[in-house]
Amino acid sequence: MAGKIPQHFIDELLSRTDIVDVVGLRVKLKRSGSNLSACCPFHSEKTPSFTVSQTKQFYHCFGCGAHGTAIGFLMEFDGMHFVDAIETLAEGLGLEVPREGGASKGPPQADNKPLFSLLQRVASHYDAELRNSPSTICYLKNRGITGETAKRFKLGYAPDGYDSLLNQFPADKKGLISTGMVAENDRGGSYARFRDRLMFPIRDRRGRIIGFGGRVMGDKEPKYLNSPETVLFHKGSELYGLFEARKAAMDADSVLVVEGYMDVVALAEHGVENAVATLGTACNQQHCEILFRVVPGIVFCFDGDRAGRDAAWRAVQACLPCLKDGRDAHFLFLPDGEDPDSLVSEQGAEALSALLQKKVPIIDFLFNHLSHDLNIDEIGGKAQMVEKIKPLLAKIPAGVYRRLSEQRLESLIGLSLDIGPAEPAATPKTTNAPAFAPLKGLTTMRRAIILLIHHPAVVATIPADQYRVDSSLKGASLLLDLIAICQAQAGISTGALLEHFRDREEWPIVNKLAATPYMPDGSDIDLEAATPEFKHCINELNQRSHKDELSKVSPQHRTGLLGIGRNRAPGSINSAATSLTTNHGRKNPLDPSGKGPGKGWRKK
Ligand code: UTP
Ligand code: MN
Repeated sequence: MAGKIPQHFIDELLSRTDIVDVVGLRVKLKRSGSNLSACCPFHSEKTPSFTVSQTKQFYHCFGCGAHGTAIGFLMEFDGMHFVDAIETLAEGLGLEVPREGGASKGPPQADNKPLFSLLQRVASHYDAELRNSPSTICYLKNRGITGETAKRFKLGYAPDGYDSLLNQFPADKKGLISTGMVAENDRGGSYARFRDRLMFPIRDRRGRIIGFGGRVMGDKEPKYLNSPETVLFHKGSELYGLFEARKAAMDADSVLVVEGYMDVVALAEHGVENAVATLGTACNQQHCEILFRVVPGIVFCFDGDRAGRDAAWRAVQACLPCLKDGRDAHFLFLPDGEDPDSLVSEQGAEALSALLQKKVPIIDFLFNHLSHDLNIDEIGGKAQMVEKIKPLLAKIPAGVYRRLSEQRLESLIGLSLDIGPAEPAATPKTTNAPAFAPLKGLTTMRRAIILLIHHPAVVATIPADQYRVDSSLKGASLLLDLIAICQAQAGISTGALLEHFRDREEWPIVNKLAATPYMPDGSDIDLEAATPEFKHCINELNQRSHKDELSKVSPQHRTGLLGIGRNRAPGSINSAATSLTTNHGRKNPLDPSGKGPGKGWRKK
């Protein structure tokens, strides 16, 4: 069982990773001032409110409140687990992820690394076998697939013979069985699942091989065989070709969903690189959601026959709940007897482009499909139409898309309708209003913490021996921890600093503070302004610990002592005492204006 990943490694990893590269690979970023911005990948929007700060190594969306580090981004965007995210970043840098000896916190995580590496070795073996199989190479050539495209998709050949894989990897029987490459029969025997098949490695979003599809050579049954569900492979949440298609899809702002492996490969051969296929299953909502995280537009491509229309209808239902504003889906029906592969192979990519001009918007398809055998000119037909379509429109998240669809129904039947409450949209999860008054109600402790999180470098502007904040003050333990981490690592970024807290109860608060702008206009404070402000806060907190020491003496004595100071609150002794024991009532000794925390520094 793998131990915990040491913190020093996470620090090292984040100091060598640039969040701009990590996000930029997945989202189109534009430079705006010192930050980079984009339309938020976590909620739909027309104007960008998602920003990535290179200095802080932190992303934040002012629209939906999404925020985090490079690790957090991979977890959110690619749906990775923490360890996967770390391994992805490490892989990119060519680093090996070390593990601490002790057991990891939380539930034990299965270490699938050996299985990934086994499938990688199996793919290389199939690749070598393909080179040795003139008939398979000939088959590919006949289907118009060049070596370059075969390489892009790592195509291979599984030779005939029940023992081939076990002979090749005698020490890996267990792994071959758990990845589904070797199957076991009732009599305790085991045999290669894929025999005499053209092999299509299926990769996850990180590019790791998680399973295979195999097309039979010749006309045995079944024509296609897929890996079974395993610890690595879940066909309901994987799409063939997505790893390869991602960049082209982002450039085109759309992805083409087709039915077969060969369709994806043949389309790429003809320069249509933004195609993916479901793995012998219907397209489900999870598939749609995964695709909409990459692109705003999905084009479903189906055969024009009955089976194709049925599959399209299932795709409609899977897609409707994902149709937040800014997203769109279309349907493309191919002429009878054609699939995308045969179309581009026989008539070229232009034939596909021409058909794409006539793609049908999802709502048109929805209306056409439902009204197909109804007479909409009659009252009865209209009523039936409403009954059929209402529950479907109710699946669309509230927004412009849904309103326009409802309007369409209303104009069709000539009545205004109440469709009922929308199902809650999948995201945004949180709607933090961008409006923020940074100084109101913000304690000195919190200001110091925010400043340190935003600018870890301020820690060095105060000599180490001059941090004398009483650790018993509310929030002081977090502040002191932050100070210690920043002191130990000159140049640490906000993102790397935050990652020290992932397993701690302060994790939500440090993240929230990192996403909290400091200035009243919602902008950040720069290091130059942050430095005196931070010194001011620490100075005040240092004083406070002194005063709190004084406050530990008897109440009478305390009143007397307070009377000497200029901060004595007007009114009773009680109110003076209150001002010592609550954060909000506390007056700032360095703020003669007496207007409370924060007002003083901004005037300077
Ligand atoms: P098709 O039968 O349409 O095959 O299956 P195809 O893509 O046109 O294949 P070629 O052109 O004859 O090589 C489409 C998809 O359905 C799944 C596979 O994912 C295939 O790519 N399928 C099909 C299976 O899983 N098993 C089968 O037996 C057939
Ligand atoms: Mn085909």
